[in-house]
Amino acid sequence: MTQKFDDSFKELEQSIMEDMKRAYSEKTIDHFLSPRNLGEIPAPDGFGRVTGPCGDTMEIYLKVKDGRVVNASFWTDGCGPSIASGSMVTEMAKGKNISEAQRISQHDVLDALGGLPEESEHCALLAANTLKEAIKDYLLYKNESWKRAYRKR
Ligand code: FES
Repeated sequence: MTQKFDDSFKELEQSIMEDMKRAYSEKTIDHFLSPRNLGEIPAPDGFGRVTGPCGDTMEIYLKVKDGRVVNASFWTDGCGPSIASGSMVTEMAKGKNISEAQRISQHDVLDALGGLPEESEHCALLAANTLKEAIKDYLLYKNESWKRAYRKR
């Protein structure tokens, strides 16, 4: 009985994986199943939250030192491609200086993921836009960081 259940579960798992492989690149599947940089960074130097036209939201948290992104993380209530995109965009931002990070585009995220199905390309845009918001927030408070304590998130 248990063996039969295990076998059916494995078959189901395999068929889900095969469906995913037909639609997504290996890199996207990897970032979706094992997202990097997931979660909040306490007291971030930059924070962005964007809700896309699909109704899904992403948040990005940045730690910046000497004009360079030293840590980045994300959260989303969105789909698998949005998780992969958040994971990828935060990986791409880490180690870059602010102006380099600001230039990371939807296209760059799509390239790094090995592409997304056309109907999911906007998920990469959500990630790129959220990163831009987080950088905008960093720049806004850069010289008056005490004001962060009074801002609403
Ligand atoms: Fe909304 Fe992917 S469908 S972010």
